[in-house]
This record gives sequence, structure tokens and C-alpha cells, in this order.
Amino acid sequence: MFHITIKKTYDEVSAEAFKVMEGVLKGDHTPVLGLATGSSPVGLYKEMIRDHKENGTSYKDIITFNLDEYIGLPRDHRESYWTFMHVNLFNHIDIPDENVHVPLGCGEDPEADCAAYEAELSKYTVDVQVLGIGSDGHIAFNEPGCPFDSVTHTMELTEQTRRDNARFFDNDINQVPTSAATMGLASIMRAKKIILIATGANKADAVWGMIKGPKTTDCPASILQDHPEVYVFLDEEAASRL
Ligand code: F6R
Repeated sequence: MFHITIKKTYDEVSAEAFKVMEGVLKGDHTPVLGLATGSSPVGLYKEMIRDHKENGTSYKDIITFNLDEYIGLPRDHRESYWTFMHVNLFNHIDIPDENVHVPLGCGEDPEADCAAYEAELSKYTVDVQVLGIGSDGHIAFNEPGCPFDSVTHTMELTEQTRRDNARFFDNDINQVPTSAATMGLASIMRAKKIILIATGANKADAVWGMIKGPKTTDCPASILQDHPEVYVFLDEEAASRL
């Protein structure tokens, strides 16, 4: 079930998304958070940092699981998702590093590392999972064709995704890793609530496919049609085909 909010600016979109996050943070138990990287959630993370600094909301006991990581980048690489999360959120709140989980992309056996990640994740129930959406309809790095029953696994990135993400790698697609370790679609669907943020015209087709299109692995995000509680935050451009 989708609850859709459309706002004019990215800051308004982020502030609305924070309201759902705030409800979870201030709920009746210490939550487990599922987190995403990329441009879409940065404004939400800024709101979380502001709230931590202004209102003292503590993350000392909060556990987090990130969606994905590039394969082949060491954790201290400037564009690893481990680094991204520290720069954009973890370094600014009081979460202990041992509470943080990001898939390992630089181990010797990525498949085994994915299985270990899924085993750890399945000990918990994620209260809210933050998502962006790829212009090809991916969520996490579950690219078109990925089975709906997938759990944490490795995935070849599509050329479209690598082109989209080249902006983080000196606009050079050759520097963008070719594969990633990612939570699967079934792993994501176990979260109690989902916050999905999408802005900009290049997301309009994927947003349409997620909400209005047929439920098909051609648009991995369309699996969310079966989720009971998905909060979708869009700007007018991303919502333009709805
Ligand atoms: C990142 C992730 C990806 C991004 C998607 C959109 O952890 O899982 O699915 O959410 O590629 O990226 P942005 O927000 O940069 O447009």
C-alpha cells in the first residue's frame, strides 16, 4: 500500500520523509533502521543529524543495516558506501560503529560475505527501510530481472546504473564498479515500513513502473505493490507520470 506525498522542493521532500522516520525513532521501542546511500536520502540524513543535535535524539542503541556496497572498493575508498554513510550520517550522530552493518564488498568471497550478511540481518526486524530508486527501476542494487524472492546477493550493475553513478567517479563510467553486494528484494520486503524518496525527471518512468505499472521483475521496485506500508516522497518531476 503506497502513501504518496508530492512536494515542490527537495528540502520539503526530505522534511516530509523525516516525519515518518521521526515517528519510528520516537516509537515504543529502540528501532532497527535500514539505510540507503546515493543522493536521494542525503536530505533525510541532514534532518536526522539536525534532530540529534537540537533534540538530543540518541542512536546509541540503534542498529542499522545498509542496503548495498560496491564490490571491489576497499571500505576506506572515497566512494565506498561505508565511507558515504560515515560522511553523511554516522560521523554526526552518536551511533557506535559496532551497531552499523554495511555489506562487505572487498572480501575474498563476496557470495559467502552476502550469505553472512543475510544471516545477521535475519536476526532482526527492520522497523523502517529507507530506499531510493534507480532510473531503471532498481531498489538497492536489484537490477531488472532480479527474482522477487532474492536475499542478499551479488549483482552485475546495468550500464544505465553505472552511467547514472559515474557522477561520483569523475564522470568516468570505467571507474564505476561493475557489480555490488546487495540486500535482495525479499530481504527488503521484510521491513515493517518503507520510506522511498525520488526526485527529478529521470526518475519519472521508474516511479510510474513502481506504482502504476505491472508487477514484474522488469521493474524490481514494482514488488513494493505487495508491501503493506510504503511511504513515497516525490517532487513534481518524479511524480509527473502518475
Ligand atoms: C543505494 C541504492 C540505490 C539508490 C538508487 C538511486 O544504496 O540502493 O538503489 O537508491 O540508485 O540513487 P540516487 O539516490 O543517487 O539517485
